[in-house]
Amino acid sequence: MLRPKKDKTTRVKLTKDSIRKARGIFAFLKPYRGIFMIGWIFLILSTSVGLVFPFMMGQLLGSGSASQPASMEESVQLINLQNINDVALSLFILFIAQAVFSYFRVVIFTNVTENTLRDIRKAAFSRLIYMPMDFFNKNKVGELSSRISSDITQIQETLKTTIAEFFRQIVIVIGGIAFIFVFSWKLALIMLGTVPVMAVLAVFFGRFIRRLSKEAQDQAATSNSIIEESLMGIANVKSFTNEVFLLNKYGKAIEEIRNLNVKSGVWRGLFVSFIIFCLFGAIVFIIWKGLLMTQGPNPELSMQDFFSFIMYTIMMGASIGSLPDLYASIQKSIGATENLMDIIHTPSEQQLLKGKEFPEISGKIDFKSVRFAYPQRPDMQVLEDISFTAHPNETIAFVGSSGSGKSTISSLLLHLYSNHEGNIEFDGHEIREIDVHHLRQHMAIVPQEVLLFAGTIKENILFGKPTATDDEIMAAAKQANAWEFIQSFPDGLETQVGDRGIQLSGGQKQRIAIARALIKNPRILILDEATSALDSESEKVVQDALDKLMVGRTSFVLAHRLATIRHASQIHVIQQGKIVESGNHDELMRQGGIYKNLVELQGLDME
Ligand SMILES: Nc1ncnc2c1ncn2[C@@H]1O[C@H](COP(=O)(O)OP(=O)(O)O)[C@@H](O)[C@H]1O
Ligand SMILES: [Mg+2]
Repeated sequence: MLRPKKDKTTRVKLTKDSIRKARGIFAFLKPYRGIFMIGWIFLILSTSVGLVFPFMMGQLLGSGSASQPASMEESVQLINLQNINDVALSLFILFIAQAVFSYFRVVIFTNVTENTLRDIRKAAFSRLIYMPMDFFNKNKVGELSSRISSDITQIQETLKTTIAEFFRQIVIVIGGIAFIFVFSWKLALIMLGTVPVMAVLAVFFGRFIRRLSKEAQDQAATSNSIIEESLMGIANVKSFTNEVFLLNKYGKAIEEIRNLNVKSGVWRGLFVSFIIFCLFGAIVFIIWKGLLMTQGPNPELSMQDFFSFIMYTIMMGASIGSLPDLYASIQKSIGATENLMDIIHTPSEQQLLKGKEFPEISGKIDFKSVRFAYPQRPDMQVLEDISFTAHPNETIAFVGSSGSGKSTISSLLLHLYSNHEGNIEFDGHEIREIDVHHLRQHMAIVPQEVLLFAGTIKENILFGKPTATDDEIMAAAKQANAWEFIQSFPDGLETQVGDRGIQLSGGQKQRIAIARALIKNPRILILDEATSALDSESEKVVQDALDKLMVGRTSFVLAHRLATIRHASQIHVIQQGKIVESGNHDELMRQGGIYKNLVELQGLDME
């Protein structure tokens, strides 16, 4: 039957480069090469036994049919088989051997494959998680993870079975050809001129039909999307009285499906008659030719050898037929391996950014004429000439409309990007010279949208400091004003959150994030619009928790709402990546510029 194939990359072009890259997989196979070799020995053994089958079967069948004994020179007797019992017994022994060999082959190949894939998965994830930020700007995360998992499935299939199958079929074809030439080179030549040609033709014919039905499937998807869109936008459809238009569109699409399917039906019919007529015809032709050779007082071919010959022919026909698909699958795997190796061999953030210095991080930070553009949009200057000095334990606020560059400053502080111009210095050390891990260990961020990981509340708080004790967790939760609501859940700290757990409100998530930051006890804190998604009720509780969190650290408060920053010792108003006003609240109010305007606009002139 026609299998619906949903792969998009059916045909992968194999270049020298992709093969070179795909060879990276050998590094992952290496630790298991010993056991893998043993697996190959079993594969070779089971393949060789498989190669003897047709011979034995033929002998068994031939010895049953009464034919004139062939003279010794003409009959190729590899084993001198006395009678039917002997042949049957040997066949039975062969079956047992085959069963044992195949068992070990499958178990060992599976073992090697699963070990290798575990290592590859691990390497890929650890490489991904250490990728520089820029990588994630360039690649869609959803696409990336689905691509990796489909690549891995492809490789799994190939390592586990396809390679072994491919090897086996090739050996069968080559070995089979050798055997039949020994039986009768004349008949072998006739056979090779017909059956493989037909088998290959049948394969390509089959592919063509599959492609036709794939077109029909795509077309079906298109027509389904017409239904989907119409029903989802049904209010629009009705208000524009577009029903007839959509009906026509749909009508055309389904007519197309019908035509494609009818066309593929015709070809399928032709395919069936082709198989029946040509392929079976070719086989009958060989049998006829072969039988002629077994006739007469002095036949060219013994009956046994003739049967063996036919058995080999059938087996080889099947092997040849399966080769193109196996080859295509290996080809795809090489493409998949190349993709994975590309990821695994990308230099990671650690390698790119690893600095030599582990300075004391006191919380003193200098931005000196910092200019910045995102790597994938180099022509758009996001920050222009940003300069300021933050002293330990000071609160610095950045105010500006959205898109002005506030979050970009936080990304630079966290060293998510390294392509800034000017200097960003922590206690006099340029950020690029500082070990990135060391730096981030002293920082915490509370963002606007807190992402909690699937797991318990406790695990989410522990994210800030995996070694924290229960007492520490409780203290942090209390300080973050989170303890009360956590306790109200039946499972307390063990409450599941995330997709499959309890749904927390924005303010609750925020307070868990604050507890997470508290437990980390960072020298430097970044609050990026930490309260701007909250209603005023929870904003108060969260703000109260934030105030406690900010004590005794250098804090950056990024906000477009101004209520949160009144008490900051420095307020920088930022517009399109430039600092346009600086000072504390009172100074800026007295100055009567943009800040004062904003304060009045937001009705926050609280005197
Ligand atoms: N990852 C990114 N890649 C490219 N441009 C970005 C990226 N993030 C933000 N920008 C752009 O940089 C500018 C400043 O953004 P951002 O720092 O997020 O502003 P704010 O936090 O003040 O709202 C915006 O024009 C935004 O479109
Ligand atoms: Mg922002």
